[in-house]
Amino acid sequence: MIGGALAGLYPSVNALTAARRTFSKTRHASSCRLSCVFDVLVLLSLFCLSVCFSSCSNGKKRYVIGVSQCSEDIWRNKLNNELRDAVYVHENVELSIKSADDEDEKQAEQINRFVDDGVDILIVAPNQVNSVTKPIAKAYGKGIPVIFFDRRAGDSKYTAFIGGDNVKIGRTIGEYIASKLGGKGTVAEIMGLEGSSPAIERHKGFIEALSKYPGIRLVASQSGTWQQESGRRIAEGVFAGGVRPDYVFAHNDRMAFGAWQVARRLGLGDKIKFVGIDALPGKDGGIRLVRDGVLDASYIYPTRGDLVIQLALNILEGRPYKKDNYMKAALVTKDNAETMLMQAEEISHMSSQLEELHGKLDFFFTQYSHQKIYFMLSIVILVLVLVVFVISYRMAMVKRRMEREAADAKLAFFTDISHDLRTPLTLIADPVERILDDDNITPAQRQMLATVKRNAATLLNLVSEILDLRKIQDGKMTLALTEFNLCDSIRMWVDDFKSLAAAHKVTIGIDAGVCLNIKADYNKVERICYNLISNALKYNRQGGCITVKVAESGGYAEISVADTGIGMSKDSVGKIFDKFYRVENNSGGTGVGLAVVKAFVELHGGNVSVDSVEGKGSEFVVRLPLNSDAAAPKPSQQQLGAGSGDGFHAVQLPVAGKDGGGEGVADGGHDGRQDAAETAAGDANGGVVPSDSRLLVLIVDDNIEVRQYVASILHGEYDVILAGNGKEGLDIALKNVPDVIICDVLMPVMDGLEMCRRVKEATATSHVPVILLTSQAFAEQRAEGYDCGADAYITKPFSSKVLVSRVRNLLENRKRLKYVYGVVADNVQKECGDVDSRFMDDFRRVVEEYLADSNLTVETVSAALNLSRVQMYRKVKQLTGSSPVELIRVTRLKRAEHLLKTTNMTVSEISYEVGFSSPSYFSKCFKDHFGTAPGDMR
Ligand code: FRU
Repeated sequence: MIGGALAGLYPSVNALTAARRTFSKTRHASSCRLSCVFDVLVLLSLFCLSVCFSSCSNGKKRYVIGVSQCSEDIWRNKLNNELRDAVYVHENVELSIKSADDEDEKQAEQINRFVDDGVDILIVAPNQVNSVTKPIAKAYGKGIPVIFFDRRAGDSKYTAFIGGDNVKIGRTIGEYIASKLGGKGTVAEIMGLEGSSPAIERHKGFIEALSKYPGIRLVASQSGTWQQESGRRIAEGVFAGGVRPDYVFAHNDRMAFGAWQVARRLGLGDKIKFVGIDALPGKDGGIRLVRDGVLDASYIYPTRGDLVIQLALNILEGRPYKKDNYMKAALVTKDNAETMLMQAEEISHMSSQLEELHGKLDFFFTQYSHQKIYFMLSIVILVLVLVVFVISYRMAMVKRRMEREAADAKLAFFTDISHDLRTPLTLIADPVERILDDDNITPAQRQMLATVKRNAATLLNLVSEILDLRKIQDGKMTLALTEFNLCDSIRMWVDDFKSLAAAHKVTIGIDAGVCLNIKADYNKVERICYNLISNALKYNRQGGCITVKVAESGGYAEISVADTGIGMSKDSVGKIFDKFYRVENNSGGTGVGLAVVKAFVELHGGNVSVDSVEGKGSEFVVRLPLNSDAAAPKPSQQQLGAGSGDGFHAVQLPVAGKDGGGEGVADGGHDGRQDAAETAAGDANGGVVPSDSRLLVLIVDDNIEVRQYVASILHGEYDVILAGNGKEGLDIALKNVPDVIICDVLMPVMDGLEMCRRVKEATATSHVPVILLTSQAFAEQRAEGYDCGADAYITKPFSSKVLVSRVRNLLENRKRLKYVYGVVADNVQKECGDVDSRFMDDFRRVVEEYLADSNLTVETVSAALNLSRVQMYRKVKQLTGSSPVELIRVTRLKRAEHLLKTTNMTVSEISYEVGFSSPSYFSKCFKDHFGTAPGDMR
């Protein structure tokens, strides 16, 4: 039997394994999902950060301007500073300045690198006219705009040019010298770098001007390198050759100064005049040289870095611009040098102030941008921390949910098993109980059976606790509150454990006052204490002790159960009340008992806590309100009606009657009993009561062992007929009209509820009491059973005593009804249900209709009522206690009595009137029924 039950578990075990597999898959998938979410969030944060940073540049497009300077000197330094200053106000512009140090190749390389780096525009001062043709063509080909400034580059394509008008400058200086010489004299020219455009153009302009003055002779014209040194070198050569020009025109101030140095050294300083170009302000600048008389004149060769940058931005941002831009300039002579110097110094002072301001601004901007970065970083860190927190929280939630789902799945699984186990366990426990009642068994057998009984009780207890847990989880557990003395009760419960504790060599003591009255659910408090004490015993060691304390504290009863056992880790303490949690390395528990404790305590509105030290022991403290009225969920009407209300007190093993086995009981309704039914029908046909006075019980259950077992319980007192499913049961019930039906709920073909409903609907059987005997113990299942017309609902595991009493009780009620029928037939309607009242009305109507017909038979009435004679016989007999024949006779006699009292008809006339074929037989029957002869009735 148990083997069969276990075999039935395998599919469920497989289902659990599959569920576990799905669970672990889900967990894996879920962790993958979470890590993806995490990655996405990090990327999102970084994206936000970059967006924040990029938004800091006011949304303007960024430009890189590459500047290739041919050389490095004070003129170019001034220009570079102006370029930087000009860019300063444009946050989106980056400036990269490189110097070729007067080397063609180096410059070509620089330009190529700028192109490769992808600058947005090139500003180039070519060293020589043809030195940068190739790289410039490459840049142009790549769509990079090219600006030439100060110097030009042969026939290279270019976007724009900006700089001084060197031809004009050369011309102006030529005219100036000519005018100073009064159109007559000698001039020497020190030109700039050969092949560079300013040198070519300045010479051109100069020659143009001099050509107008035939009295002026150009005595020397040599190319320098733009450096001071080259001016010195050329002057030395020219002077050494004995040439003493009136004027020396150098293409820049540096070379003019170098030549002047040579002249001074040779003592020619006052005799020869020097003119240069650039007229830079500052210590070594041309303006000062003019003021100090070193140079006779210089020409301002403008730098104007601001205009260069403006032109570049116009090109980059698509604004209109001119292709060739010549900057204005002026001649500086002794007359205006001082003024110009002052202005220049003023400008230089302002520009150094501006630079200082820039420095400060830079400092503030750097600070500001650092702060901005810190701020952004803080936000990102904050967001990341938040994200990590949210993810951790969600992961914890998911973990908790999964754990809860796993526990729920386990509970659902165990609930199913528990339902399945209740029947076989009952079939173990109850027969054992009954055998133990037998005085004839040997002491050894008794001991073995006691072991079976104890273990069956333990299993039933576990099953009950699992079902209780389910019931609590579904919110269907209620409290049956009673007032009792907690101290007395706990003392009693502790006493129950004493012998078991002694067997474990554990002492158990109690520290409780005399009286502490509490209003709580007695059974549940008992279960709480029972579980805590068994737990303390289970995890104790030999020689250990358990102390149970009861005290009152602030409106609560405090029950503490302390042990000196193995204790628990901190981790276990946090989970010990979770469903199915088992302390690690401990195979003793099921993780159900303490979960039930917690649930029951909380149902009372109390709480339970545990304090444990690993290796030293644990103390559980339960706090229950002295009056749990407020917290208690009120039992529903159905639950109250169901009797036991809640909880499956399986520890109380059901006690069966003395009879064992199911021998001699017919199964399937096919043999002995069916004959008996036929016999009864035969009797009915003959108009007499059935010969077999034992009542008939129909047992319907698909479990053959349960059928047989229930039959064995009832067999001694009743005739029993069996069926294996609802359909079979219904057929037998309709055919044999049993006195009571005991029926399982879950059955193949037709379930018990459907069968019950049909039994109650059928005229033949509507009056038959139905007891549903099932493991479906929940309140709504009971309600459903009652809704189908069941007269009683007994849950498995059941007590055979309860079952027998219920059967007797229902039959007693029926007897009371019969009495009413027999004596006061008019009250019948008031005592039975609609269907049965209607049936009796119909019965009476048919009988009265045919009353005068002496040939009226039971068949006539049963045919009129659409029943078989057996059905009608048994129904009428069960409802009234009389057979149909007797009822017909009584009805005739009552009619006769009425006619005797209200008419002048003779006895003989009345006997025919009420359907008797012979007046003498009428008189006999009348006297038998009323105790007086018909004539004496008047
Ligand atoms: C600076 C410089 C100036 C001169 C200019 C001509 O490098 O030599 O002195 O006027 O270049 O390009």
